[in-house]
Amino acid sequence: MIDKTTMIEELKEKLQSLSTIQEVQNIKAQYFGKKGQITALMKNIGRIEPEKKKEYGMQVNELKQEIERLLNGKLDEIKKEIKKQEELKNWVDVTAHGAERSFGKEHLIAKTIRDIYEIFTQFGFTVVEGPEIEEPWFNFDALNTPEWHPAREMQDTFYLEDDLLLRTHTSAVQIRTMLKEEPPLAIISSGRTYRKDEIDATHSAMFHQLECLFIDKKVTVGNLKMFLEQLTKKIFDNEDTKVLLRPSYFPFVEPGFEVDVSCMNCGGKGCNVCKGTGWIEVLGAGLVHPKVLENVGYDPEKWQGFAFGVGVERIAMLKYGISNMRELYKNDIRFID
Ligand code: PHE
Repeated sequence: MIDKTTMIEELKEKLQSLSTIQEVQNIKAQYFGKKGQITALMKNIGRIEPEKKKEYGMQVNELKQEIERLLNGKLDEIKKEIKKQEELKNWVDVTAHGAERSFGKEHLIAKTIRDIYEIFTQFGFTVVEGPEIEEPWFNFDALNTPEWHPAREMQDTFYLEDDLLLRTHTSAVQIRTMLKEEPPLAIISSGRTYRKDEIDATHSAMFHQLECLFIDKKVTVGNLKMFLEQLTKKIFDNEDTKVLLRPSYFPFVEPGFEVDVSCMNCGGKGCNVCKGTGWIEVLGAGLVHPKVLENVGYDPEKWQGFAFGVGVERIAMLKYGISNMRELYKNDIRFID
């Protein structure tokens, strides 16, 4: 009547090569669809002789159940496989060693500041801080740079609302400290400063300065030079480093100097780093102007002092042989590391 065995074998054969749910569904339709084989067998029942109907019905039913079992079994198998693949794809090895991450090192600007702090705190200087947003009086007027002064225009900076500005130098901290403290004084301070400079390999509208102020009785240029020599010898790690004071003008010091150090590249013989002169300019310095002392209520007859301000980037660039200042701001970890 019905060749069950052959049909089942046929199906088993077909199922073997299937790998998608859709393919199984297609096979299923071949049996149970409108024109499916099982559907046809069921329809056929009307034509079976009455006494064989029962037997026939049973056989079709058995066949139908067997086919369903095989098809569902295959579907389960495929679903399991899909799940397995999915799990493999999203597999996370929780025991795996974490990805290596470089932690970098202290930034060269921070390191340079810390190195100079270390030198000066050994001499008994105290570290103080001042605000980056300043009042013009601290940044200019109190430093003997009134509104009409040409030096003020040279340094004009970014003005904010309410007559505030981004400090153009750390010298403003001198004033803030002297107003708060009684002399004698030995302080250093550092931080960001701002100027409307065009940005190039050696200039930035934001840069760091380090300020030093020493107030005592009978302070001389000799004292200033001694400290500058100590500082430069230590910071450039070379006992032969020499310091040259060239007369210069800053409204808040008298006398004022631009300070050069002997070239750390050639030792003073002349090379391309020092442009053949043997000297490199590193900072501004001088003895605190009597007017400044008066402005903060110190008696200039009794107290004198020296002050200097140094560009931190400049020192870092000279010390570590960096030719482009922008490298310091890029935040590339390979540069710091
Ligand atoms: N403030 C000066 C500048 O920014 C540097 C300086 C500091 C000069 C202290 C003399 C004394 O150029």
